[in-house]
Amino acid sequence: MKFFIDTADTAAIAEIKSLGMCDGVTTNPSLLAQAGRRDTDALLREICDLVEGPVSGEVVATDAAGMIREGERLAGLSEYMVVKIPTTYDGLKAIAALSGQGIPVNATLVFSPSQALLVAKAGAAYCSPFVGRLDDVSHNGMDLIEQVVTIYTNYDLETEVLVASVRHPNHVVEAALMGADIATIPPKVIKQLVQHPLTEKGLAAFLADWDRLQGK
Ligand code: G3P
Repeated sequence: MKFFIDTADTAAIAEIKSLGMCDGVTTNPSLLAQAGRRDTDALLREICDLVEGPVSGEVVATDAAGMIREGERLAGLSEYMVVKIPTTYDGLKAIAALSGQGIPVNATLVFSPSQALLVAKAGAAYCSPFVGRLDDVSHNGMDLIEQVVTIYTNYDLETEVLVASVRHPNHVVEAALMGADIATIPPKVIKQLVQHPLTEKGLAAFLADWDRLQGK
């Protein structure tokens, strides 16, 4: 399973890369706003150079022609850029056009299995169902992942399932059990994934016994 990091914070990305846990990065306009840099093209290039793997940058146009133009520009920033396109009717046209040019597309804001089927047929390299936002409205986000994995497996669709809007470690564990290709994970959740109280407790006991042996 690949881990992408869901942030535009270069310090956080560098830190997680040092753990060997950064296979790629996803950004969106909200994450770029949090990073507080208006030179977004320069920032995306920096992230690409740092990650040397797929980095998603999202278009803000909402019409197909505008999304295609913006997507072509974003793809030109780096060989690692993946163009994020919202899953709307116009978005599908842009996904088909950009994918047809060989530009990798990440179909974002996916909330239903029908959307996931369509973006795969349009040729998206990645499909991003937003699990946390479904949980927020009393749906089970992980049910959608199970459905998308089943559909893509049934038809040998090559689009990778990229679990997004991950809010806690169980989202990652469940995604792994379901065979999702990738989870895009906020830096805070990467840290939570390694924590276990029994590890802390066990380490404290080992160190106390070691000190006793040394006569401390
Ligand atoms: O990967 C998409 C993600 O950034 C959205 O997360 O927590 O804003 O729903 P969230």
